Amino acid sequence: MPVDFKSINQAFSNQSENYDQEDLANPVIHWMRSFVYKHMHPYLTSESHILELNAGTGIDALYFASQGHRVHATDLSDGMVKQIQQKIQQHQLSDVLSCQQCSYTDLQDIQSGPFDHVFSNLGGLNCIPDLKEVTKHLPALLKEGGYITWVIMPPVCPWELGLALKGNFKRAFRRLNKGGAMAHLEGEYFKTYYFTPSQVMQTLGVHFQKVSLRGLASFSPPPHKIDFPKNHPKLYKHLIATDEYLSASYPFNSWADHFILTAQYLPIHSIEN
Ligand SMILES: C[S@@+](CC[C@H](N)C(=O)[O-])C[C@H]1O[C@@H](n2cnc3c(N)ncnc32)[C@H](O)[C@@H]1O
Repeated sequence: MPVDFKSINQAFSNQSENYDQEDLANPVIHWMRSFVYKHMHPYLTSESHILELNAGTGIDALYFASQGHRVHATDLSDGMVKQIQQKIQQHQLSDVLSCQQCSYTDLQDIQSGPFDHVFSNLGGLNCIPDLKEVTKHLPALLKEGGYITWVIMPPVCPWELGLALKGNFKRAFRRLNKGGAMAHLEGEYFKTYYFTPSQVMQTLGVHFQKVSLRGLASFSPPPHKIDFPKNHPKLYKHLIATDEYLSASYPFNSWADHFILTAQYLPIHSIEN
């Protein structure tokens, strides 16, 4: 089934105006972002040049720019790109943050680089069935020894599977559908696809070595459980502490709402071994 880029663009453009407001109001997403930043810290230099895929409104791009890095933020959606451009202007960041409307399947059009890091957060890469459409561009974009950190939704999410106990089998098992699951966002329908960390590593190929893998929200709830932290503050604190403690251990590094995978680009590695 061909990817419906038009519906994806429309859905996320419709979402873009309220995106930051909803993001800010969601404590689950707030914890997720901070956990991703902590995870990435060892793989960034003091001034990394980062290419961000599916950057949304540029929340992470702004964060990394504020930490002394240079970021080239890209996204498919007209509305999301407009939000990033507004942030660059508003915060006078044009020397450290640039923006380009570009699908991650068209990375041959990227105007800058090479990069130290190619970053994708919160499931943007789940919008295509074949990650090879993205990974084939990486050798031209990454410096030798550079990294990718991709935050992707896997097929097994304990909280969603738990919905089977409430009889909601369709939602509980939707990620396990071989042909992808239909998403409904802001009046638009498009397919989403779920990948295991091993599938991503396989797609990256022999020139990439896995350096770190963590689950993101195995025990703690996914972002749509926005009221959970407010309604169960002690339990939520306990669950995120458990996540932080076990996130790198199997199966919790793969069974979660998302996983965070960092791999290093070592083009001579396959020759040496
Ligand atoms: C769930 S949002 C995540 C946005 C951002 N990474 C964040 O953490 O806030 C998914 C993003 O993926 C973008 N996206 C979907 N398909 C894309 C594609 N083919 N190329 C580039 N961006 C895409 C959407 O426009 C949207 O901004």
